[in-house]
Amino acid sequence: GRGIAVFTSGGDSQGMNAAVRAVVRFGIYLGAKVYFIKEGYQGMVDGGENIVEATWSSVSGNLHKGGTIIGSARCKDFRVREGRLKAARNLINRGITNLVVIGGDGSLTGANLFRHEWSSLVDELAEKGVVTAEAKSKYSNLYIVGMVGSIDNDFCGTDMTIGTDSALHRIIESIDAIAATAYSHQRTFIMEVMGRHCGFLALAASLASEADYVFIPEWLPEADWPSRMCKKLSSEREAGQRINIIIVSEGAVDRDGNTITSEMVKDVVVKNLHQDARITVLGHVQRGGGPSAFDRVLACRMGAEAVLALMEAEAETEPCVVSLDGNQVIRLPLMECVKRTQAVSKAMSEQNWDVAVQLRGRSFAR
Ligand code: F6P
Repeated sequence: GRGIAVFTSGGDSQGMNAAVRAVVRFGIYLGAKVYFIKEGYQGMVDGGENIVEATWSSVSGNLHKGGTIIGSARCKDFRVREGRLKAARNLINRGITNLVVIGGDGSLTGANLFRHEWSSLVDELAEKGVVTAEAKSKYSNLYIVGMVGSIDNDFCGTDMTIGTDSALHRIIESIDAIAATAYSHQRTFIMEVMGRHCGFLALAASLASEADYVFIPEWLPEADWPSRMCKKLSSEREAGQRINIIIVSEGAVDRDGNTITSEMVKDVVVKNLHQDARITVLGHVQRGGGPSAFDRVLACRMGAEAVLALMEAEAETEPCVVSLDGNQVIRLPLMECVKRTQAVSKAMSEQNWDVAVQLRGRSFAR
């Protein structure tokens, strides 16, 4: 059978364990040898105990746990050829020529570069006598497939990334909790949520929590946003509402590209409306805790599809990323998705919001 290794890379997200479990179980079911690579690319470079064969039972009881049990790390060594050469040797020694990478666009790009470089790495290892001529011909191709684990939902090509739904649940739970105490004291709460340069979490949370105002990176507030916001908040109070909830995405900016901070928003509320206002920065609570049912199921489906994609891959097959489109789990060209995701980041940094939103929203499949 084919040697498949699965690893998680970059920031963790809820549902990564469920994805790893699905890869292990479906791989074993289809007759492959499956390995864990612990600590992401660092474990691949370091080898040894970091690359271990997975068994059916080694992934028991993990599906409901948050984080990534096999660890994740940012890795400098993998950025240089010497590190990648070590990684290639560690994989070939174990008969691994298939990689399932669960991470963000940076991690997927790294895997794709590794794949392009693979044959030259194998040649070099053979020249140095580190691998045999037989191994050189047997392991001449590297196959990769990606899955996106991120709470930000910032990857082009998939409707949802693994972890987004769980983070949203956590945000909503927190807002509900805050709303209860806010109600007692007739307070206004400014809730700061994660998402990096993507406003998905903030926007979805604001809809699901009846928030009064939301700031997201993709939608620049009008220059006179302080007075507009105050008008809206006071009209809600006049209508009998005891609280106000404002959600600020951590990446929100104003028309000059300056970050709209929670402090700024609070100051506007206090100065103009003399309301009792508090800030809650949700932080890593959003990334912690167990995965939602949606993320568990999504990760199971994506993990199985990832293994199938590897089983069917031929030398000339373009690597894919497993995505959700509508309610279908599909395969899309990995680098096209990565490139579009990077184009969105570029457009955002150049304050080209319309281009960014258009690029992000466009479907690949339809
Ligand atoms: O990408 C996930 C994310 O949680 C972002 O929402 C946030 O901006 C960032 O990672 C935080 O990074 P770190 O965990 O390194 O502090």
